[in-house]
Amino acid sequence: MIQMKFRIFHFVIIFMLIREIKTQVSAESEFLVDRSKTGLTHVPKDLSLKTTTLNISQNYISEVQSSDILSLSELKILILSHNKIQYLDLSVFKFNQELEYLDLSHNKLRTISCHPTVNFKHLDLSFNAFDALPICKEFGNLSQLKFLGLSATQLQKSSVQPIAHLNISEVLLVLGDSYGEKEEPDGLQDFNTRSLHVVFPTKKEFHFILDVSVSTAVNLELSNIKCVLHDNECYFLDVLSKLQKKPRLSKLTLNNIETTWNTLINIIHIGWHTNMEYFSISNVKLQGQLDLKKFDYSNTSLKALSIQQVVSDVFSFPQSNIYSIFSNMKIQNLTVSGTRMLHMLCPSQISPFLYLDFSNNLLTDTIFKNCATLIALKTLSLKMNQLKELANIILMTKEMKSLQQLDISQNSLRYGDDENTCSWAESLLSLNMSSNTLTDSVFRCLPPKVKVLDLHNNRITNIPKDVTRLEALQELNVAFNSLTDLPGCGTFSSLSALIIDHNSVSHPLADFFQNCQKIRSMKAGNNPFQCTCELREFIKNMNQVSSEVAWDWPDSYKCDYPESSKGILLKDFHVSPLSCSTTLLILTIVTTMLVLAATVTFLCCYFDLPWYLRMMCQWTQTRHRARNIHLEELQRKLQFHAFISYSGHDSAWVKKELLPNLEKENLQICLHERNFVPGKSILENIINCIEKSYKSIFVLSPNFIRSEWCHYELYFAHHNLFHGDFDNLILILLESIPQYSIPSSYHKLKTLMARRTYLKWPTEKSKHGLFWANLRAAININLMNQVKEINHT
Ligand SMILES: *[C@@H]1O[C@H](CO)[C@@H](O)[C@H](O)[C@H]1NC(C)=O
Ligand SMILES: *[C@@H]1O[C@H](CO)[C@@H](O)[C@H](O)[C@H]1NC(C)=O
Ligand SMILES: *[C@@H]1O[C@H](CO)[C@@H](O)[C@H](O)[C@H]1NC(C)=O
Ligand SMILES: *[C@@H]1O[C@H](CO)[C@@H](O)[C@H](O)[C@H]1NC(C)=O
Ligand SMILES: *[C@@H]1O[C@H](CO)[C@@H](O)[C@H](O)[C@H]1NC(C)=O
Ligand SMILES: *[C@@H]1O[C@H](CO)[C@@H](O)[C@H](O)[C@H]1NC(C)=O
Repeated sequence: MIQMKFRIFHFVIIFMLIREIKTQVSAESEFLVDRSKTGLTHVPKDLSLKTTTLNISQNYISEVQSSDILSLSELKILILSHNKIQYLDLSVFKFNQELEYLDLSHNKLRTISCHPTVNFKHLDLSFNAFDALPICKEFGNLSQLKFLGLSATQLQKSSVQPIAHLNISEVLLVLGDSYGEKEEPDGLQDFNTRSLHVVFPTKKEFHFILDVSVSTAVNLELSNIKCVLHDNECYFLDVLSKLQKKPRLSKLTLNNIETTWNTLINIIHIGWHTNMEYFSISNVKLQGQLDLKKFDYSNTSLKALSIQQVVSDVFSFPQSNIYSIFSNMKIQNLTVSGTRMLHMLCPSQISPFLYLDFSNNLLTDTIFKNCATLIALKTLSLKMNQLKELANIILMTKEMKSLQQLDISQNSLRYGDDENTCSWAESLLSLNMSSNTLTDSVFRCLPPKVKVLDLHNNRITNIPKDVTRLEALQELNVAFNSLTDLPGCGTFSSLSALIIDHNSVSHPLADFFQNCQKIRSMKAGNNPFQCTCELREFIKNMNQVSSEVAWDWPDSYKCDYPESSKGILLKDFHVSPLSCSTTLLILTIVTTMLVLAATVTFLCCYFDLPWYLRMMCQWTQTRHRARNIHLEELQRKLQFHAFISYSGHDSAWVKKELLPNLEKENLQICLHERNFVPGKSILENIINCIEKSYKSIFVLSPNFIRSEWCHYELYFAHHNLFHGDFDNLILILLESIPQYSIPSSYHKLKTLMARRTYLKWPTEKSKHGLFWANLRAAININLMNQVKEINHT
């Protein structure tokens, strides 16, 4: 009873423990709740009280009430963007003291009611339907505010006043479609912010006179600029011109521009003469032509210009004008990317370019051919273009004396076997030639000091042994090629990172890690490994280096061959050492043989194995013979099972050992002392006994030979009773008889002894059992019994 109670108590504790663990696990996942895009029309009621982040964006929620969220006292982040909320009273959040991130963008808000809140760091009210700026005086206490998103169609100066004293990092101001219809003095100067992003109404020609230059922002972003109707009379140029007077401007970003070539160059030109350092233009749609105009390069503070994603309707005018404008800019960084640009001119004078990114265009091999003015250039990216012959690119770098990084990935580059030019810029440290059609021959010509070499996704089958020594090479990426082995480090003596996954490496060099001592990182998975003996050393090495170095070990390393091991992880592949080493195999066989021989010798010496074997052999023979005995033969009238003949000297043994053992089995024995009929001659008696007995047993000893055998020799000579096969004769060798002691006239005995078909009496007691068994088998008792039974019935 007590035990029972104890057990129940035990169960309760375990149950409670399990429940504890369960709630912990689920609580953790409930902190973050994502119910976005689930068709909600109301804030869900079934939320965990521990929710800290709730994402219910992209639903059909039209109102938020205090009761919806008041219990979520730990809520920190609430995302309500892309819903249908028209009105919001901020007091609904009065119980959510932790709330610091509220995203209400892309709703239909027209008005909000305010409530003192102090914790917001991120408040997004952009892309709504407000007319006036939705800034309440309570916002003035949001001292932690870092981001404020607003939308309005009017910008009254007074409405920004409540937050003018705040120090906000970023303000997003989205102007509604009807913005600009009423002219009002705007309040941009009251936004005390580092970054200001103004989004103008889309689908409308730019006709706004907003003076962004009054803003305190040093990073300015302007989106949605459409100037197509009046070339050169675009209002936006005026807006931009005002920026020239702005003393503090670091970065200007223009987004989503739809205009003409002339206006774009004008925009760049005006930007050139402002105080900014970084100018970035992206997503541009161009039309019209470029009229040749001089570009005034003087007095710029610009360091970096970036133009990305340009679509142009027509290209019917000479583009060298455009190329010329860009190539002669005296700035450090220039990016012209995603523009379908066909060519770029060599700067006409020594150029200060340090960094050029011309990725994702339509440039060909003629780019910067024989160009000797780019001597400061350190980084050049020509990725995703139409480059074809590597030899041309090698030649191109020859004049770029400072070039350290070159990216020519994702082109159609090839390098022929018979190329002779190898004039890489000596300064090159990093070369990216991935995703081209390069073959083994690329190793014949590489920049001598290169440290990082990316050749992944090419057509390399082998890294030639005689490649130029690349002693500085530290990182080599040859993934996604057709390599059949790991590279040796003889030629890459500093190699510390190797990426060679997705190749055709089947039996990697076992001595790779000895060879490449400096390897600190390696990725060689997804190769068709042949799981055979040779792989064991490699697997061992990988297991040793595993965690820090081989970071895709073990999951990406699988056997591909043989078929039986296909798909199993290398780390789980085991093969016995024996089947792998010939020496070991031979050694094992020899050892086994030696042990066997030693065992046999031992058995022979100590247990007389040959004797046992002979006895067993005789037993089998007799059994076999017994089976072949014809029944009629056995049905002769027989009186005795056996007749025993022996010398008087051996009678002690016969009476003490032999007779008791045979009579125990109820055998009828004819003894020549006991059963001899007086008055008859010895020979007659013997014949009588032999003829009435099933078997005749002779106990052989030197005495027997001397005193008794003469009778039998005579008898055998006259009667052919045993028919030469001696089946009925059993010889027991009591003492060994030397061959010389047998008189030469005893032919029969000699023949019998020569056939060695006698049972030898063992001196060791332990062998007696087997001797008797053998003797009984020789007499064939069972058969006799059967015969008797047959006779009786
Ligand atoms: C909220 O969900 C939307 C839609 O699934 C997703 O785009 C947005 O990144 C999510 N916001 C956060 C902060 O997880
Ligand atoms: C801002 O907080 C101060 C005290 O911290 C308070 O006196 C003032 O009324 C608050 N202003 C608003 C607009 O809530
Ligand atoms: C505004 O905050 C930034 C950092 O958040 C700081 O560097 C700057 O000095 C602050 N300006 C004022 C006027 O408090
Ligand atoms: C360039 O600056 C110099 C003085 O700093 C001034 O004299 C010259 O007019 C400026 N040029 C232009 C085109 O603004
Ligand atoms: C030029 O671009 C490089 C690479 O993006 C950058 O590290 C460097 O700061 C840039 N320099 C300037 C002046 O913008
Ligand atoms: C080489 O360029 C490819 C894309 O073209 C990029 O994925 C890879 O990271 C670059 N390699 C290096 C070493 O920067």
